[in-house]
Amino acid sequence: MEELGVRQRKKAATEFTNGHDTGSETKSGPAFPKVYILLAALLALALYNFLALVKSPLLGAPTRHLPGVRTHYVPTFTADEAKRDAVVEAFKHAWLAYERDAMGDDEYHPIAHTGSNLTKAGGIGYTVVDSIDTIIIMGLEDEYQRARAWVADKLSFERDGNFNTFETTIRVLGGLLSAYHLSGDDPVFLEKAQELGSRILPVFETESGLPLSLINLALREGVPDRDNGGLISTAEASTLQLEFRYLAYLTDEDTYWEKAENVMAVLRASAMTSGLVPIFVDSKMGRYQTSPIRLGSRGDSYYEYLLKQYLQTNQTELVYREMYDTAMTGIQTHLVKRGLSSQLLYIAELNPERTQNGELGWRLTPKQDHLVCFLGGSLMLGATTSGALTHNVSIPPSTDELTNQGKRDWLTGVELIDTCMATHDTQTGLAPEIAHFRILGDGMDGSMVPADWYIKGARPNAPPPFDARYILRPETVESIFIAFRLTGDPKYRDYGWAIFQAIEKHCRIPTGGYASVINVDQVPVEYDDKMETFLMSETLKYLYLLFADSSVLPLNDYVFNTEAHPLPVFNPTIRTGFS
Ligand SMILES: *[C@@H]1O[C@H](CO)[C@@H](O)[C@H](O)[C@H]1NC(C)=O
Ligand SMILES: *[C@@H]1O[C@H](CO)[C@@H](O)[C@H](O)[C@H]1NC(C)=O
Ligand SMILES: *[C@@H]1O[C@H](CO)[C@@H](O)[C@H](O)[C@H]1NC(C)=O
Repeated sequence: MEELGVRQRKKAATEFTNGHDTGSETKSGPAFPKVYILLAALLALALYNFLALVKSPLLGAPTRHLPGVRTHYVPTFTADEAKRDAVVEAFKHAWLAYERDAMGDDEYHPIAHTGSNLTKAGGIGYTVVDSIDTIIIMGLEDEYQRARAWVADKLSFERDGNFNTFETTIRVLGGLLSAYHLSGDDPVFLEKAQELGSRILPVFETESGLPLSLINLALREGVPDRDNGGLISTAEASTLQLEFRYLAYLTDEDTYWEKAENVMAVLRASAMTSGLVPIFVDSKMGRYQTSPIRLGSRGDSYYEYLLKQYLQTNQTELVYREMYDTAMTGIQTHLVKRGLSSQLLYIAELNPERTQNGELGWRLTPKQDHLVCFLGGSLMLGATTSGALTHNVSIPPSTDELTNQGKRDWLTGVELIDTCMATHDTQTGLAPEIAHFRILGDGMDGSMVPADWYIKGARPNAPPPFDARYILRPETVESIFIAFRLTGDPKYRDYGWAIFQAIEKHCRIPTGGYASVINVDQVPVEYDDKMETFLMSETLKYLYLLFADSSVLPLNDYVFNTEAHPLPVFNPTIRTGFS
């Protein structure tokens, strides 16, 4: 197996950079009046939207322009109403079945017509709260009233069970915060968000300040993850910041901000010079552990939130831009590879390995999780912001508006989206959970596997490997949505429509809801009876936005958290930056 990939030597995980201070110190400015204007505008918009719905109850949100900031130069792409409304219909097919069978339960099993909770202690609104902002964006007034009433009357966090810190933050806290904003500041959502935030806060009471993986919401106690030896994944520690920072901004409780920001300072102090980070870190010492480096599970949203923290505070915190730029250069240098035959660009993984003389080396593995497909859109968004020479680049950007890094990242993002689309070239048109790319000397029989990529372990007449499943994941449509907004290129709407049709054809359960499929290369499909909450919070939301008028939630004014909950950009009102 000597030839399995190029063996690369890289600096060991124990090498630290000196944290030279680039923290920008932004004082509170006259942000409040603007915020009020924006909020008033949004309120008016919400009202207009609901009124319009009364007149045409079957339609989603009518064509409209968000008033306010910087729309003067953004060309608007009009809605593709038929496709947009088809996505709304799909959402209702999912939501109404959940509501009928499992309202209030954390998770939904559409074939058994039942729900289940994450712990025995009872539900925490996982599915309801994750879906509310999509309901608002789609203008579904009746569904909104029922979901809101459930939050007001039934949602409780007094649950004596261990909940995943990261998942609870991105889905429930993130969902409450965006519902608060999009509902025109309905206080019920902020009260619940504040309560949940305060219950999660004890996870940061560790020696280093990095969070523990689990939180007992009733006892308000952080709990280490015994399955991973008490380690926390890098993405879990570094994907709480948009939520806690926005909560701090709304409540003026700086401690939320400080705890979340401190995590980034600790991670930065422990980072490798390459800008790449291993997927595990210990929350006691705040040190990275020797572990794989990848843009897939446990690594992905670390990179996503570097950019989004920079964007969230209106590009004022330069420390995140610097971390982001370094990380993207690390990815370009070490992880961007090309397939054997048609040169598909993909993002490889590095796995730590002892060499014969005991030194640490890194083995390159040509494996790409579906999760990595978020990166295409993220690179393009980064190119037009962090990598831009002007504040308002054209759509699509022209080369003289981008830095060299911006141009490089833009092109990589465009190509990566095409690769992600190529992984939909399966019997169902759905992409697998994990794709492996062909490399020289990989020992694969060229007559048995396709020339570019394959699903590892897939054999005719054998049970499908885990890698072969599609669990309604959003990452490719997320990137397609961003790419469409930044280019206006109709090919992205075609891509999204093809994926939507494959979901409709193979995942839709006639009695209501959508299920995961266990093998994307088998027709008719076999189901796994689970409708992940991100179908309604992410996949269908991004598809809706892809076909909606482009002035709905403009990328200049919103950052989407990693669960697709849009949060408004703001100028920070507390002193920020590491010191
Ligand atoms: C989930 O938790 C809620 C709240 O405690 C409870 O009402 C519901 O019955 C639970 N669902 C299941 C399937 O146990
Ligand atoms: C950028 O914005 C300015 C006004 O703020 C405008 O004059 C200029 O044309 C815009 N540039 C582009 C490329 O749209
Ligand atoms: C972001 O900063 C620009 C100036 O660079 C300002 O015009 C704009 O209003 C700010 N946006 C928000 C939401 O504060």
